[in-house]
Amino acid sequence: MTTYENLTRPATASAVQRFTDPTTWGTFGAHWHSGEQKNLQCCAVRRETHDVKTFIFRCADFSALSFEPGQFITISPIIGGQTVARCYTLSSSPTRPFAFSITVKRVPGGTVSNWLHDNLQPGDSLNASGPAGSFTPVGRPASKLLYLSAGSGVTPLMSMTRAACDMAGNLDIVFVHSARTPSDIIFHSELTRLQAATPGLRVISICEGLGDMARWEQPIGRLELSLLNQQVPDYKEREIFTCGPQGYMEAVRSLLREAAFDFAHYHQESFDIGVLNDEPLIEQAPSLQQNVFTVTLSRSGKTFSMPGNQTVLSAAKRAGAIVPSSCSQGVCGTCKTALLQGTVEMNHNGGIRQREIDKGLRLLCCSKPTSDLVLDL
Ligand code: FES
Repeated sequence: MTTYENLTRPATASAVQRFTDPTTWGTFGAHWHSGEQKNLQCCAVRRETHDVKTFIFRCADFSALSFEPGQFITISPIIGGQTVARCYTLSSSPTRPFAFSITVKRVPGGTVSNWLHDNLQPGDSLNASGPAGSFTPVGRPASKLLYLSAGSGVTPLMSMTRAACDMAGNLDIVFVHSARTPSDIIFHSELTRLQAATPGLRVISICEGLGDMARWEQPIGRLELSLLNQQVPDYKEREIFTCGPQGYMEAVRSLLREAAFDFAHYHQESFDIGVLNDEPLIEQAPSLQQNVFTVTLSRSGKTFSMPGNQTVLSAAKRAGAIVPSSCSQGVCGTCKTALLQGTVEMNHNGGIRQREIDKGLRLLCCSKPTSDLVLDL
């Protein structure tokens, strides 16, 4: 059994506490927990491939980051005078809580990703919140795991793999990563080294083409059912975690459907498609679609109307309000706002705590009005 259960927050906190005894570590001792904001200092920048870099941070106050492998943080750099928030999955392992990393691919038009690549240097600071997210093997005990990733979707699965190897449990993990060419494989040398050093970890890299590589002894092509059957014949017995671009995940779901895989054992991560599992999006009730509500922003005095089948965040942005947001699916907490009057229907994914809801806070990205509203904006 892969022993991620030992990474639950209380165990991590107590384990970290042993390492952070103030008598031995001086300034070390505080923890960065879910929902808190911290100032981070960039310690190092490492080039992984021609368009991917890893940025290693520590908390400016030397806090230890308590997180579960697969979770993300929301960083908020100031770009062109504006604070821009974006979620990035942690690629490092929670077993190493003082220096943690995000691994970022340069993307055309990617405001924050490209800014990080072009600007962030060791010694620079930025603010961040988190950690958050429910894409984690913690709480899902499984004796056999299958990680499927493509491109920079490798990052949360790398965190899970590093954690499993660090914890030296009884591993049975098959990690199948897809890339365009061998030189596009992120963490290739580390995964090769981990595989050689860790019984029970098998890494398979599938490349669409060879690029400038003369020889490649692993599969060429794309992940297909025949390849999965050949490379991982027991995949139906495994808990599957998948992360990658939308098209890749659609292809994975499609081939697993074809194989009649039990989707109760399937988990996926994506910030851009709005679903965290394979369930269809829920249709809105007709009564919500017919209603129109008035929303008042108490600080700016702005007022606008919106239908009940839209999120308050999207309506507020269309009305010209400036509302910080990032994941748009109720996980990161960036859009948390006080609801001063009225009621909303909120379907979040862990980005807000019950005690915050009790205080009147709501996540606007996953809230739809059920009455007229007054917001603290
Ligand atoms: Fe992430 Fe709303 S934008 S929770």
